[in-house]
Amino acid sequence: MRRLVAETVLGVDDLVAPLFVREGIDQPQPITSLPGVVQHTRESLRKEVAELQQLGVPALILFGVPARKDAEGSGASDRDGIVQVALRDVRDEVGDDMVVMADLCLDEYTDHGHCGLLTPSGEVDNDATLERYAEVAIAQAEAGADIVAPSGMMDGQVLAIRDALDEESFEQVAILAYAAKYASALYGPFRDAVDVSIADGGDRKAYQQDFRNAREALEELRADVGEGADLVMVKPALAYLDIIVRARAELDVPIAAYHVSGEYAMVKAAGERGWIDADAVALEHITAIKRAGADLILTYFARDLAEALA
Ligand code: PBG
Repeated sequence: MRRLVAETVLGVDDLVAPLFVREGIDQPQPITSLPGVVQHTRESLRKEVAELQQLGVPALILFGVPARKDAEGSGASDRDGIVQVALRDVRDEVGDDMVVMADLCLDEYTDHGHCGLLTPSGEVDNDATLERYAEVAIAQAEAGADIVAPSGMMDGQVLAIRDALDEESFEQVAILAYAAKYASALYGPFRDAVDVSIADGGDRKAYQQDFRNAREALEELRADVGEGADLVMVKPALAYLDIIVRARAELDVPIAAYHVSGEYAMVKAAGERGWIDADAVALEHITAIKRAGADLILTYFARDLAEALA
């Protein structure tokens, strides 16, 4: 009877798998703070994607770790940059059977670790960064991304990317905007995964949101929809279920939630100590995110859940 009256059913169709690919390695590298997640080689990425497809996972989001970083994050838009090369590999591997997303940001590619270009005094230069994002979007679209996902929280980024894509005849490439992205301490393991440390002990509080604010998040979500976002994201997920609920009530576009690296790592760490049943908690947490109103959930548990739900 519980099954018959369940209000929320999590299914494999709700899941998006985040994957990391690193340039210049010949073996997949484990990420200590993300047990079970690796930095892939191009080869191991292809294999993982084929297995996810077999499991019925409908989508993936790709992050690149370049061998060299510079002030402009040039690897992000280089036609032969690691993400572009890997996007082509993935497209070749799965054809149109999976939705291929690319995280669109500069932080994995800049030597200072910020999501944008810096002014001479070291501040993030919002408008100069938009021009770089437009270049990255084109490079990712050319490499076969179905969806580009700007995660840098620059003002005007969705509009700039939409214009650039349309101009180059990529009207069919969709935008998933990291719209309500909080300056969170839960991204720590991710920064290990992409080898990012922010210069001079800096943080992202100048562009990501203050966790004390909810109305501001709604304003960011509305703005991104107004600029042409096809899907919008709330990130992190569990501490921000109220934002997902409010977004769901107010907006009619698909809502994504990102169950981020720190959220995953906490469950894994407590599970390893035998303090909780990690698999049960994972199912509970990800289902709760769906219950709150998310249509798609980016989670490092995607593969485990796809296996469990099969
Ligand atoms: C930025 C980006 C970040 C994450 C996704 N895209 C890091 C940040 O904003 O510092 C975090 C994802 C996670 O913690 O799992 N390119």
